[in-house]
Amino acid sequence: MDLTTLLLCTLLLTACCCRRSAGVPDKVEPKPEILEFQVGDNAHLNCDSSLSIDDLSHVDWFFKHKDQRIHIFQVRRGQGQPDPGEYQHRLTLLDGANLSLEHVTPKDERIFICQVKGLASHTQEKYIQLQIYKAPKEPTIQASPSGISVISKVPQEVATCNGEDGYPIPHVTWYKNRRPLKDKNRIRITEVRTKESSGLYTVKSTLWAQLDKEDKDALFYCELSYRLPGGDHMKESKEVNVTVYYPMEKVWLEVTPNRLLKEGDKVELKCLSDGNPPPHFTIRKQDPISLSWLEVENISDGVLILEQAQKHHSGLYECLGLDFETGVETTDQQQLLVNYVSNVQVQPKAPVMSEGSSLKLNCSAESSQPLVFHWKREKTDEVLKNGSVLHLTNLTREAGGGYLCVASVPKVPGLKHTQLVNVTINGSPWVMAKEAHMWVRENEVVNLTCEVSGQPRPTISWSVNGTVHEHEKDFQTVLSILKVQVIPELLAKGAVCRASNSLGSNKTTIFLELVNLTTLTITTTGNTTSSQSTTTITSPSSAKANSTSTGDPVKKTGTKQESKGVVIVAVIVCILLLAVLGAVLYFLYKKGKMPCGRSGKQEITLPLARKNEIVVEVKSDKLPEEMGLLQGSNGDKRAPRDQGEKYIDLRH
Ligand SMILES: *[C@@H]1O[C@H](CO)[C@@H](O)[C@H](O)[C@H]1NC(C)=O
Ligand SMILES: *[C@@H]1O[C@H](CO)[C@@H](O)[C@H](O)[C@H]1NC(C)=O
Ligand SMILES: *[C@@H]1O[C@H](CO)[C@@H](O)[C@H](O)[C@H]1NC(C)=O
Ligand SMILES: *[C@@H]1O[C@H](CO)[C@@H](O)[C@H](O)[C@H]1NC(C)=O
Ligand SMILES: *[C@@H]1O[C@H](CO)[C@@H](O)[C@H](O)[C@H]1NC(C)=O
Ligand SMILES: *[C@@H]1O[C@H](CO)[C@@H](O)[C@H](O)[C@H]1NC(C)=O
Ligand SMILES: *[C@@H]1O[C@H](CO)[C@@H](O)[C@H](O)[C@H]1NC(C)=O
Ligand SMILES: *[C@@H]1O[C@H](CO)[C@@H](O)[C@H](O)[C@H]1NC(C)=O
Ligand SMILES: *[C@@H]1O[C@H](CO)[C@@H](O)[C@H](O)[C@H]1NC(C)=O
Ligand SMILES: *[C@@H]1O[C@H](CO)[C@@H](O)[C@H](O)[C@H]1NC(C)=O
Ligand SMILES: *[C@@H]1O[C@H](CO)[C@@H](O)[C@H](O)[C@H]1NC(C)=O
Ligand SMILES: *[C@@H]1O[C@H](CO)[C@@H](O)[C@H](O)[C@H]1NC(C)=O
Repeated sequence: MDLTTLLLCTLLLTACCCRRSAGVPDKVEPKPEILEFQVGDNAHLNCDSSLSIDDLSHVDWFFKHKDQRIHIFQVRRGQGQPDPGEYQHRLTLLDGANLSLEHVTPKDERIFICQVKGLASHTQEKYIQLQIYKAPKEPTIQASPSGISVISKVPQEVATCNGEDGYPIPHVTWYKNRRPLKDKNRIRITEVRTKESSGLYTVKSTLWAQLDKEDKDALFYCELSYRLPGGDHMKESKEVNVTVYYPMEKVWLEVTPNRLLKEGDKVELKCLSDGNPPPHFTIRKQDPISLSWLEVENISDGVLILEQAQKHHSGLYECLGLDFETGVETTDQQQLLVNYVSNVQVQPKAPVMSEGSSLKLNCSAESSQPLVFHWKREKTDEVLKNGSVLHLTNLTREAGGGYLCVASVPKVPGLKHTQLVNVTINGSPWVMAKEAHMWVRENEVVNLTCEVSGQPRPTISWSVNGTVHEHEKDFQTVLSILKVQVIPELLAKGAVCRASNSLGSNKTTIFLELVNLTTLTITTTGNTTSSQSTTTITSPSSAKANSTSTGDPVKKTGTKQESKGVVIVAVIVCILLLAVLGAVLYFLYKKGKMPCGRSGKQEITLPLARKNEIVVEVKSDKLPEEMGLLQGSNGDKRAPRDQGEKYIDLRH
């Protein structure tokens, strides 16, 4: 376009302006340039004048308010001057005509007009539409605390979403399980928008919905969509679930553990339902005789706990659920069977037999399940027989005692009961030994023991005064212990224990013998120099084994076994020694150093001869005193140093 037409147009425009009052814009406004900013940005308002800075005489800036132009800034001869008012402190002249508007706010979202007059006095105008944006804060969501009933015919409050400080008003979309909610019939969304003094908006959107039982695990969230310069954005809230109330359709009764139950088990009967909230439960049990139902007490939340189930807990149970909201009542029944074994009986109950006779023990029991029986000896726990009947023939005294009938249910592990039956074999008193020996020190207080078996129970008396303790070892053996001081009279006569019952009498004599003190020479092992020391030892004179009733039977057998073992060890050691000596001799011989004299041979034979003695004495190791004897006898007859050393070698 040439200059003339441009001038013409300008003239025309000015003419139009002049015809109306100043500030009233033209009917035909140029299309504004749209500039987008975020709150807080500095906006550059470019005048886009085609005139050079030097040609500019007047530049005026306005903003449009309704139909009015309000003057805010003027530039005269390159000098900018804001008008007093709203924009006074926020506008700066950048160059000839362009302005900078600091820190834009939603209120700046309006049209700004730049009017330029050139020296040639033609006028240009530029319209700028500012658009301001502000992202809202992260949306917050709050699920309705009251929960939602599926019975409701109108939508109920599900959740509320809050999007604060956005501009323009953010748009809220609701989602259920990540799908936008659309069904307009079943949902309703209400929104409250608040404009803050800053011009920003806060939007509060509430979702109302009709939900189904399937929604009990549904997750809801809201999404805020908004625009920023350059594009659309969105923010999502967290997901929330809501309590969904739905009526029960059925109840059921659950029994745990779910296996064959036995008496003593901890059993739990639990009412369950598919309703929320759970209905009110009651548990009832049918009386097996009258068939009427009795309510079970002590149930909480529909759970009945039988800490130790018993036979009588068996029966038909019913769980009854009552939904208060719908008034619906539903039941479920469950048969409870607590397996048991009871009334284990043995015939005859307490047999009293004479020696040599035979006995048949018949065991019976009651149970909810097939039973198996076996018999055990009480003393040893040894299984004697499988089956309910036990035959005992040719009864001996030893056959007397306890027998256990064990009745068990193979199908139910751990379910068993036992019954003890005492078999009494009549007989005159038996003493454990006719005579016994005991090693004592003068004046010491000792316990003398007398063990008597017999049926009927024997009475026991002692020939000496002392304190007597009597107790039953088993139901036909009595143990009498006499606590007495060792006085010369006792040493001389011994103590006699007499036992008698209606079938006869018996006695045992305990002889007390003094421990003798002997002084012995000992070759101390591990020391090269022989030394003398005094040791107290027990003289075993006539004692040896069979100490039986007085002492401790374990020791007796122990000693026997030990001596046997020791003899074997001794023989082996001897052989080994011989081999070693043979080797040594051979070695010496080879070296040509063997004297081949008598002394050498003596050295071989002598220790071998002693071997057995040493070994036999080892058996008494148990008594510390006897150790002395053992070692002493070594040193006794031997060439002291030499043999002592040999002895050491053997023991190691
Ligand atoms: C204003 O700004 C625009 C763009 O930055 C520039 O082209 C122009 O020269 C500036 N000055 C005037 C007087 O328009
Ligand atoms: C929401 O779900 C959590 C875990 O899944 C659960 O603990 C909570 O009880 C539920 N809240 C409601 C109101 O259903
Ligand atoms: C059951 O109820 C009885 C009284 O009816 C009470 O003595 C007993 O402690 C209760 N047991 C339990 C487990 O609550
Ligand atoms: C064992 O006793 C039961 C009844 O108690 C009886 O039926 C059964 O025949 C008896 N068996 C024997 C072998 O005596
Ligand atoms: C009974 O036992 C005694 C001794 O143990 C024996 O002599 C006798 O033969 C036995 N009698 C029968 C019938 O087994
Ligand atoms: C006394 O007991 C012994 C067993 O120590 C026994 O051999 C003997 O027969 C019994 N005497 C009488 C009269 O019963
Ligand atoms: C003797 O027996 C009594 C119990 O009967 C016991 O307290 C005491 O220690 C015993 N004395 C000895 C020396 O065994
Ligand atoms: C036992 O003591 C009584 C008196 O307590 C006495 O008469 C009796 O002679 C004593 N017997 C013996 C054996 O010491
Ligand atoms: C068997 O004898 C023991 C004592 O040895 C007694 O405690 C038990 O009660 C008796 N049992 C029966 C069934 O008689
Ligand atoms: C111990 O035994 C020796 C003989 O071996 C004997 O002369 C001495 O009298 C005994 N001493 C006692 C206290 O019995
Ligand atoms: C050996 O005996 C002597 C004299 O009794 C003593 O001084 C020395 O300590 C003993 N040596 C060992 C190794 O026991
Ligand atoms: C001691 O036991 C041996 C066998 O170990 C036996 O030959 C001897 O007769 C028994 N002596 C007495 C007094 O019982």
